[in-house]
Amino acid sequence: NNWNSTHCRAEFDEAMVKGIADLFVAKGLKDAGYQYVNLDDCWALPNRDADGKLVPDPARFPHGIKAVADYVHAKGLKLGIYTSAGTKTCNSAGFPGGLGHEYSDAQQFADWGVDYLKYDNCNNQGVDAKARYTTMRDALRATGRPIVYSICEWGANKPWEWAADVGHLWRTTGDISDSWGSMLSILKQNLPLAPYAGPGHWNDPDMLEVGNGGMTDTEYRSHFSLWSVMAAPLLIGTDLRKASPATFDILGNKEVVAVDQDPLGKQGTVVSSEGGRWVVAKEMADGSRTVALFNESGTAQRIATTARAVGLPDAPAYTLRDLWQHRSHNTAGTVSATVPAHGTVLVRVAADPRWATHPPAVELGLEGSPFVEAGTPAALTTTVTDLGRTPAQRVSVSLTGPEGWTLTPTSATGAAALPTGRTLRTGWKVTAPRGTPTGSYDLTLRARYRSPSGARVDSTLPLTASVAVPPPAGTSYLGDLPWLSTTNGWGPVERDTSNGESAAGDGHPLTLGGAVYAKGLGVHAESAVAYYTGKACETVSADVGVDDEKGAKGTVAFEVWADGTKVASTGVLTNAVPAQPLTADVTGAQVVRLVVTDGGDGIDSDHADWADARISC
Ligand code: GLA
Repeated sequence: NNWNSTHCRAEFDEAMVKGIADLFVAKGLKDAGYQYVNLDDCWALPNRDADGKLVPDPARFPHGIKAVADYVHAKGLKLGIYTSAGTKTCNSAGFPGGLGHEYSDAQQFADWGVDYLKYDNCNNQGVDAKARYTTMRDALRATGRPIVYSICEWGANKPWEWAADVGHLWRTTGDISDSWGSMLSILKQNLPLAPYAGPGHWNDPDMLEVGNGGMTDTEYRSHFSLWSVMAAPLLIGTDLRKASPATFDILGNKEVVAVDQDPLGKQGTVVSSEGGRWVVAKEMADGSRTVALFNESGTAQRIATTARAVGLPDAPAYTLRDLWQHRSHNTAGTVSATVPAHGTVLVRVAADPRWATHPPAVELGLEGSPFVEAGTPAALTTTVTDLGRTPAQRVSVSLTGPEGWTLTPTSATGAAALPTGRTLRTGWKVTAPRGTPTGSYDLTLRARYRSPSGARVDSTLPLTASVAVPPPAGTSYLGDLPWLSTTNGWGPVERDTSNGESAAGDGHPLTLGGAVYAKGLGVHAESAVAYYTGKACETVSADVGVDDEKGAKGTVAFEVWADGTKVASTGVLTNAVPAQPLTADVTGAQVVRLVVTDGGDGIDSDHADWADARISC
């Protein structure tokens, strides 16, 4: 579907659609299971013809829609189209909608050879949703052509409660955008709806943003892993003609697509969620479980569960298949990994009698936080733990970092054998050269070992060390200090202005309840801004609230975290409440995080100000 990459722009045209259909075949995506090539809004002219028929925009589709359908069909693919269950579609140009024209529009789609209809919700004139969507279902059925029917009313009327026999899929949320915060907020709205999904009636948390540039590849792998574990429709939303090899690797990962498309059709459910560490498990038709270990937080964390906790029967050992690394190991029952910030480790776990043919799984980890002040040695401890039923033999471990860094072991870097559950713990002295600029630096922890049968295994864990400086002694404005990392629902975090939603510097003066503040941070939920405080600071204070620029719509809650502990928070705030003073004791924290949540209702209009934010150290 073109929407996430083009919206209504002119590049959405016949050449694009054909080019993408070509790439479905050439790049193996058709082979991986992708079938539908879907047109979104803006394909039509604003007015119907004299017979009340829809007219394709001749600038975009000079040969009409039937020609595009024929092209797509000739490749063994199917064509999808879009309209709205209203008098006009959602775009402000006002393209015609299907309300009152259901039977003739459905027939026109069928005549063109359309195989999929996305039916939106704009300009619906207040007509009952169930009635509107049911009329189009009946109209599609009356054509006699099998057409997948996608209900797009954004979850507004809880379609999961009534649409199982109306449509094949229904949007559960508002529109996704190409940001970490948007993806996360939609994930959290869609997860609890698992009981409603099943074959032929799916929850649709909206189309993929993979490849559009607003998230990292690690974040896009999480997006794709989580959508697959939720059995969500996988609609590619990027222009494949411009996609990177990494984008094709993500979208074309057949083992992950197979999780999504598993015939049992169960949406995965949350096994545990604490401190940003999520375990989501999906029951598969072959009795195995696909398990997503998802790290919502901004720093690497260990995430752990067990074969039993994800619903597998007791067994001496299990096969553990890593769906991104494409490797199989055996585990005695623990399913765990150190997961990078915003990353997902996706594994398929099976009570499989052939477990012993695979080498033991080892878990690589780091104890404590990888913060380094340039020129001063920092102590790190790495771990290698045998998770397998069989021992890991001839284990050796190494830690490498950027040019010029010294990484010296202070204890053993090898073990003759690690039996089940045993850990090799190694101390390291890590020094970044004096003058190293602050920022994130990659370290690599690597373990090499042998399985009992002699097979060599090489396992690596990418780590991130932050070179940081604590704030100066005294009181500083947080808007003047460097941060370690930020996440934000729309656009970047702004210093000393509100959040303008897209480009850096597009905000306005921070304004809460009519008062204008010269200093502070302007963010958009879901947001987190992390500062290195190096155990040198005591107090964070700010006046917080929803910026006046958003009228009455935004709802947010503010939190201050000292390392892993929430040390201050507000309730849900709206524009109607005056700025709230917030003070937090952050004594002893290595990292302080300023967090804004969406108040539980999605991120729409959530412009949040940390006005006058200060820290004393
Ligand atoms: C709505 C839908 C989007 C997209 C646009 C097109 O916002 O939810 O997915 O189809 O309309 O105008």
